[in-house]
Amino acid sequence: MQTNNSLQFDVYESDTEVAEAVSNEIIGFVNQNPNSKISFPTGSTLSKTYEILRSKAQHGKFSLENAEVFLLDEYVGLPKESKDSYLSYIIENIQKPCGLPIGSLHYPDVHSADLNQASNDYEELIAGGLDLQILGIGSNAHIGFNEPGTPFDSKTRISELTRETREANSKYFGGNVDLVPHRCLTQGLSTILSAKKIILVATGKSKAKAIAGLKEGKIDESLPASALITHGNTQLIIDEASNTVKQTNN
Ligand code: F6R
Repeated sequence: MQTNNSLQFDVYESDTEVAEAVSNEIIGFVNQNPNSKISFPTGSTLSKTYEILRSKAQHGKFSLENAEVFLLDEYVGLPKESKDSYLSYIIENIQKPCGLPIGSLHYPDVHSADLNQASNDYEELIAGGLDLQILGIGSNAHIGFNEPGTPFDSKTRISELTRETREANSKYFGGNVDLVPHRCLTQGLSTILSAKKIILVATGKSKAKAIAGLKEGKIDESLPASALITHGNTQLIIDEASNTVKQTNN
């Protein structure tokens, strides 16, 4: 275990302020680098941020027309046109409203007969190429769907969701955990770390334990997000509710 914590923590009072800060970061980044390759997650943490991006796009203040967007992960086992897929979510919340050409939206082929090949193909498309990686975090500190125990050198692959993660995601399936897929295809930890800049977003007290672990600075596979400590250009934008570690350096 190492304790060399190189993460930058920006703490805001509310989740609304977090969404404003994250959207400002994304807009600033894209304005400076319109041709950026950006990876976006789904989930409730980023929904307010995406709402702001949509509103800015509507008012001509933000556009992804020259960018390329990559899905962080995707369920395996949903029907092709499922509205619960992460692809559907990103099409509705990012691609259409923010002017991203559909051909510039990249996602893994989770309907392939050969999912290992589909994972390798997606890895090849992404690795080393991302300019900006946006992440949420699970209450067990997963990033993407790299659950505790995932090796830090893992690449894009099929991963098994933990019961805890499936329960957390059951809110998107009418509260029925049995409807939540068991598997997904996710960028690996090394794939995530290959991005030039990473922004991890956390809000709410359910994330406090994971954030406390990151603040402690231990780099350990039981805490997948601690891989970010080795990255060198990772910013955490979090709210007070998820920030339980008291500052002692003053
Ligand atoms: C989703 C993803 C996950 C979520 C995490 C937090 O694409 O990769 O790691 O970011 O599970 O989910 P929410 O934001 O719903 O709490």
